Amino acid sequence: MLVSAKEMLEKAKKGHYAVGQFNINNLEWTRSILQTAEELKSPVILGVSEGAGKWMVGYHTVVGMVNGMLKDMSITVPVALHLDHGSYEGALACIEAGFSSIMFDGSHCPIEENIEKTKELVKLTTEKGISIEAEVGSIGGEEDGVVGAGECADPQECKMIADLGVTMLAAGIGNIHGKYPANWKGLSFETLDAIQKLTGDLPLVLHGGTGIPADMIKKAIDLGVSKINVNTECQLSFAEATRKYIEDGKDLQGKGYDPRKLLKPGAEAIKETVKEKMELFGSIGKA
Ligand code: 13P
Repeated sequence: MLVSAKEMLEKAKKGHYAVGQFNINNLEWTRSILQTAEELKSPVILGVSEGAGKWMVGYHTVVGMVNGMLKDMSITVPVALHLDHGSYEGALACIEAGFSSIMFDGSHCPIEENIEKTKELVKLTTEKGISIEAEVGSIGGEEDGVVGAGECADPQECKMIADLGVTMLAAGIGNIHGKYPANWKGLSFETLDAIQKLTGDLPLVLHGGTGIPADMIKKAIDLGVSKINVNTECQLSFAEATRKYIEDGKDLQGKGYDPRKLLKPGAEAIKETVKEKMELFGSIGKA
């Protein structure tokens, strides 16, 4: 059964580790992540952007697929199905479809509007036992059509949003979606520290988990990050393994064109990436 992300994140915050949110794009992706989480006894959050939700036909299809896998794969670890960077309408649609967690990304609105809409969604999610993530500041770069300038969050605004009763808070601290540019200045630990001091026990979320060096990840966890989002890195490992399969001419040997064979190396590569991240985040054995 899908669970809210609340309990797993509160445990992570207390235990000084982070739970990974891995974004899903299709059935193979989802299976690889769930298999790895089960094998390593790690809690896990499956992230679905609005674009990926559409690609996978729609939110009901996603909920049906994930619920089916939890049963058919006898998954015992805690799994949350979470809308990533949701609009207000997207959040409502996911609640209706059966997601166990949502993100409302109001970071593009004026803070008053962000507060107002987050507040409404907190009321709704609390009634339904669903977890909710809010965002302040912005994550740089582009994630499935959501573009951010990457400004650091204002800690006072973070406190205002935290006080609404959200389950977790994503704050821009110099992090970027996608690959980090060579001249990236790194995470602003000063901002993170100030936010954590004002928001106390609230689990903080680090977006743009792809390509952040291990020492920065560890420091972010020390400063209160309990959820780390990874998307691009799984896409890169999937693409690289698939390219190799084709460049080696394997699709032309025997029945190598069979989609189950064609997609297998990429699916295996995702497992490896998820495992590395779970090791780094410290979530193994915490289910
Ligand atoms: P990356 O694609 O940079 O790993 O970021 C993922 C993310 O933050 C999803 O919200």
